[in-house]
Amino acid sequence: MNLLEQIKENAKNNIKRIVLPEGIEKRTLIAADQAFEEKLAEIILIGNPDEIKKMAIENNLKNIDKIKIVDPKNHEKKQQYVNLLFDLRKSKGLTIEAAEKLTEDPLYLGVLMIKSGDADGEVAGAGNATGDVLRPAFQIVKTLPGISVVSGAFVMILKDKEFGEDGIMVFADCAVHPNPTASELAEIAVMTGKTTRAIAGFEPRIAMLSFSTKGSAKHEMVDKVVEATKLAKQMAPDMQIDGELQSDAAIIPSIGESKAPGSKIAGHANVLVFPTLETGNIAYKLVQRIAHVEAIGPVLQGMAAPINDLSRGCSVSDIVNLIAITANQAANM
Ligand code: ACO
Repeated sequence: MNLLEQIKENAKNNIKRIVLPEGIEKRTLIAADQAFEEKLAEIILIGNPDEIKKMAIENNLKNIDKIKIVDPKNHEKKQQYVNLLFDLRKSKGLTIEAAEKLTEDPLYLGVLMIKSGDADGEVAGAGNATGDVLRPAFQIVKTLPGISVVSGAFVMILKDKEFGEDGIMVFADCAVHPNPTASELAEIAVMTGKTTRAIAGFEPRIAMLSFSTKGSAKHEMVDKVVEATKLAKQMAPDMQIDGELQSDAAIIPSIGESKAPGSKIAGHANVLVFPTLETGNIAYKLVQRIAHVEAIGPVLQGMAAPINDLSRGCSVSDIVNLIAITANQAANM
């Protein structure tokens, strides 16, 4: 069984309620139908029920009439969610009128359902930009206790089995936090280790990447990674973490041995933590395209509930896969 099949199997064995706020987005609706068919989760669609049913008929989708649909403008819990949003955000200047309007926004409604215990996770982003998906989640669901930043990891399924864990590596942050401080970078490393255990299913060997290996270069950007490595080790003494390492020293055993002798991670890393979002986002896209690697994610980590953001260029199977991953995260929380 490959990793994706395993993730789907786990989802089937522990059914979670996954809300899809973009119920009137065609790929999302087809994915909802497919996820129902595969019994990956209990799906909740947000959108106008008449519009959803019309689209289901047009696209010959057989399962939509068995899926729960929540109309953002008219549903039994509307006032309860308005009150919750107002309570959570009034200190930030939100008025009750603004809360009423925002509660009708499917992206706000989805996270309000999670906050109220009416859903276990969310998948969105096929029709909305990353910031628009993440902002309501940051404002309402917020981060896990002890964690201050959300970040995004990709599980990279390589063709070349000699790298990582039998050809699987995890990269982060590739999606969310542009310029982390040393302590935020340490949190990102530890959260990526946890995501690796929960989703990829192996023990992480984490390399904190830089343009320097063990003091070969001097610069404040290197100092940040050195400090983050120290903090990450303190935060998670049970995790194997080393840095600062250049990417070749992290993944090529002979280079690891010569540049970082004595390091258990150098040459054998299966998790790469990038110093900034720029480097992480550029690296994962280049590896994905040039080496024809399957990149699963971004799997968002550090949030108090699993909420995942799709790329707007996603396919139906990307959405189905992310529903299964989100259900796995919910089961692991
Ligand atoms: N983790 C947790 N909370 C956060 C984070 C974070 N990384 N960033 C912002 N917040 C919180 C803030 O604390 C604030 O909370 P508050 O209102 O309760 O005080 C709230 O979110 C809004 O904060 P802003 O700073 O106003 O957030 P902003 O909207 O400016 O930025 C965003 C957040 C949208 C995630 C921004 O950092 C961003 O655009 N990141 C890049 C995303 C991106 O484009 N990625 C690349 C594409 S994805 C891909 O290629 C796979």
